[in-house]
Amino acid sequence: MSEENRSRVDEITDRVIESFDNCPSDRLTTILKALTYHLHQFAKEVSLTTEEWMAGIDFLMATGKISNDKRNEFILLSDLLGLSSLQVAINERADEATESTVLGPFFVEGSREFENGDDISQGASGESTFVSIKITDAEGEAMGGVTVDVWGADADGFYDVQYPGDKLFNRGRFVSDAEGRVFFWSILPVAYPVPSDGPGGALLKATSRCNMRPAHLHFALVKNGFSQVVTHLFVDGDPYLGRDAVFGERDSLICQFLEVAGDPEADDAKLRTNHYEIEHSFRMARG
Ligand SMILES: [Fe+2]
Repeated sequence: MSEENRSRVDEITDRVIESFDNCPSDRLTTILKALTYHLHQFAKEVSLTTEEWMAGIDFLMATGKISNDKRNEFILLSDLLGLSSLQVAINERADEATESTVLGPFFVEGSREFENGDDISQGASGESTFVSIKITDAEGEAMGGVTVDVWGADADGFYDVQYPGDKLFNRGRFVSDAEGRVFFWSILPVAYPVPSDGPGGALLKATSRCNMRPAHLHFALVKNGFSQVVTHLFVDGDPYLGRDAVFGERDSLICQFLEVAGDPEADDAKLRTNHYEIEHSFRMARG
């Protein structure tokens, strides 16, 4: 780049940053100035060509076009670039609360409400698994009245919203009881590939990256006066632990899903057949 060009390039960056000087919001000013600075730095660092700039525009266009109210390809893109995990790490309260991880692209607002003991699998393929959660505050006191969203893939590695139609399965909302407990039947999580039919999948393919997520079940915990906890429970022994496509795994969230032999004397038909059981505690921090 010639000296004249370099000075023109820097002048453009300075002028765009200055253009936000009259923004009435201090926070928005900070964000947009920093975004401009780093976006321009990126273009300068790689000497972005016209073809590459256009390819980036087309990629974002395709990301928008394939997204809808059930599929958010922008979240997948954020996950695949590690931005989601980075943002979680910047904001989490791991000293006082359960470690957080990515929300992922398959959360659905307004999930069906269930009672403790119910089966959320609703016909999804998979091995029966009894999930038992205890929720406490940072001091270890049981927390009743926590809204808990749970969602997971089926045995083929697909979420309900990835199938045609409106049928929802292996997803539900609970409220913890006075002892802070939430317990329900679900299915054993399996490792699955992130969606490969959109720009996110194309990015992984073009860069020869692992497209798999280790087996996990999603949780989102909400209660007034406490910081939200968005997290997973991962299945110990999964071969993809250590190379999660979205960089979401945390050692503290890896759990034993125990294989339990059926008890022919049990009252509950599910307990009379072989199944899995998982017990875990979550902590929430005030704030
Ligand atoms: Fe997931």
